[in-house]
Amino acid sequence: MEYKNYHFELTEQGVAVVLMDRHDEAMNTLGEEFVRELAIVVDRLEQPDVKAVVIGSAKKDFLAGADIKMFTDMEADETAVEALQALHEIYDRIEALHQVADKPVVAAITGACLGGGLELALTASMRICTDTAQLGQPEVQLGLIPGAGGTQRLPALVGIQNGLQMIVTGRPVRPYKAKKMGLVDEIVPTEKLLDIARKRAVEAIGTQQSKDGIRSKLRVAAIKDMALEGNPAGRKMLFKKATEMMVAETGGNYPAPRRAIEAIQIGIDHGRAAGVAAEIRFFAELVETPESAALRSIFFASQELKRDTGIDSHVDPLDVDTVAVLGGGLMGGGIAAVSAINAGVNVRIKEIDDAGVGRGLAYVDRVVSKRAKRRRMSEFEVDQIMNRVTGSTTWDGFERTDLVIEAVFEDLDLKRSIVKDVEAVVSKDTIFASNTSTLPITEIAKASNRPDKVVGMHYFSPVEKMPLLEVITTEKTSDETTATAVAFGKRQGKTVIVVNDGTGFYTSRVLGPYTNEAGFLLAEGASVEDIDSAMKSWGFPIGPLLLGDEVGIDVGAHISEIFLDAFGDRMKGPDMMAALVADDRKGRKNGRGFYIYDKGERKGVDDSVYGVLGLGAPKGMARSEIQERLSMAFLNEAALCLEEGILRSARDGDIGAVFGLGYPPFRGGPFWTIDTMGADVVVNKLDALAAKHGKRFTPAQILRDHAESGERFRT
Ligand code: NAI
Repeated sequence: MEYKNYHFELTEQGVAVVLMDRHDEAMNTLGEEFVRELAIVVDRLEQPDVKAVVIGSAKKDFLAGADIKMFTDMEADETAVEALQALHEIYDRIEALHQVADKPVVAAITGACLGGGLELALTASMRICTDTAQLGQPEVQLGLIPGAGGTQRLPALVGIQNGLQMIVTGRPVRPYKAKKMGLVDEIVPTEKLLDIARKRAVEAIGTQQSKDGIRSKLRVAAIKDMALEGNPAGRKMLFKKATEMMVAETGGNYPAPRRAIEAIQIGIDHGRAAGVAAEIRFFAELVETPESAALRSIFFASQELKRDTGIDSHVDPLDVDTVAVLGGGLMGGGIAAVSAINAGVNVRIKEIDDAGVGRGLAYVDRVVSKRAKRRRMSEFEVDQIMNRVTGSTTWDGFERTDLVIEAVFEDLDLKRSIVKDVEAVVSKDTIFASNTSTLPITEIAKASNRPDKVVGMHYFSPVEKMPLLEVITTEKTSDETTATAVAFGKRQGKTVIVVNDGTGFYTSRVLGPYTNEAGFLLAEGASVEDIDSAMKSWGFPIGPLLLGDEVGIDVGAHISEIFLDAFGDRMKGPDMMAALVADDRKGRKNGRGFYIYDKGERKGVDDSVYGVLGLGAPKGMARSEIQERLSMAFLNEAALCLEEGILRSARDGDIGAVFGLGYPPFRGGPFWTIDTMGADVVVNKLDALAAKHGKRFTPAQILRDHAESGERFRT
């Protein structure tokens, strides 16, 4: 029989080899038709001539989980329960092949084995994977929980602690760790995967192994070896601890991890059937939550950005093989690291002296060593990468660079003189990118003889961890230059948005009114704790005052002057910066700021800061007021950036805020938040704030327009 999405072969020994190969997508994902046909494949596997089964993939990846679009349909039609029950039924039948019919089932896993993919693999009696495999239940990242048995079969196989860890964090595991926890039985080279899987299937026919599967592992691995999990009191403690950790990490803003813990616990306490029922019920409930809708929107937006070239024309990007990074400090070191490690290009770090070169090289070395230590990289790869990075204090060899990224001090004159120096030594095709965080690229490009080759590449600290790159174009930047910066950013592993030039571009600019407002709140009697804890509980990783300490209060003071110049009174803060700087408060870097630092470690709030600011003891302020004023300041500025054409789209504004600034992912980004609240509600709030606190809250015209038309920013 021919299948549309599966290859089927029955060997002479009776091993049915099923290779998944979704016909309409490059990747295997669980779509409606794919699932329906799986049921037909299972009919065939239940025939008596099949003695054993191998389930693998004809593609690079095993099965990457559900086609996320399916969730949106489920949400709209409220069909989640039926869809999940149908999937459960099919998965149960695969499990019954070995549990009931004594036919060993071997999952042969390559590449991504995620979500519904891992849940399929969990139904097998044995799992073999290649060393490139990635196994995980990432559903919580979409505001969901595993819905095809993962909350039950995974902890049963790998133990409660490992199961909780994987499901509650959503982080996938690599083969080595998977083997250690009993998730896979064997790791094999890719080219041997199917041969070995077939062999293991044949060996297991007629032996106890075909039946062993989950039940034996539950006895052996999950209970006996883990004393804590073996008794009710220990288990209760485990769940309590997991819940506490989850709340500490998420601020309790995410319903999915909580439900995941509950579903696992119900299964452990009341048995598989009760656990499955809870899993399905919770999933159906979660798919309807605004948090899940927001998280899914971010997923779709970042997928779209992967395909976005950053330009509207069809110009090809230039090849980039050799990159020079000017400045080997915090940012330059990070940029060099991701260029050498992820993009795999040759990198030359140029600094003013040998010490600077040493700092830059040491940064790359630190990042590489950390990955090697976590077994993410072999010694050989480490050597290869380090061989690609060189340092210098001269311009030697610059004629061969395709792209120069400067990350020297934030000083317009310095950056301009560097443009001139670079253009004197590079070829006419070399692109010049600046990592400035605020200076308009147009101003820097004024020093250039070929402004079409000048672009902004704004990274975030720490570069090797932060996912965003904001590419900034001026009126003169050519499409070829933009496309090259975008393509190279993607090779560095970044999600890239392209914005038009302007003071602070997008990501730095939206923080302007937000941090100013924090100052106003402080001046009106809110305490540092009130402000920072309010925004943390709103979902930001840190509050605005701690952010000030992290960025550097001196840097912030400098930026606020630039913003005041560029935007006028709208960006005028409460005149606090000067007093803080005069008191030598630079934040974390000199251990003096809104908080107290002891040997680099942050302690409590530094209460003397109120005196320095000429304020009395704080009176306190309601959390809701702080949250409303700060969030509205942020949303309004984001809308202004769209209105003025700084942003190309609301989508980019959402991704920029979430990936670059830690805007709460469960709120989907500022524009998603506005859509969720309703632009009319936002306008009313802003009008009320403007009446009370001044013109700085005047709503953007684009908000009024959307309020009137009812149009959404995101679709
Ligand atoms: P940093 O002070 O850590 O590093 C700057 C480095 O540039 C120093 O090592 C210095 O020796 C070197 N340098 C100065 N003049 C030079 C020259 N003429 N040639 C070669 N090297 C030279 O500063 P950081 O934080 O790395 O900032 C660099 C740039 O990145 C600035 O424009 C900053 O605004 C921007 N930026 C900083 C972010 C941050 O979080 N620190 C975030 C995004 C952008």
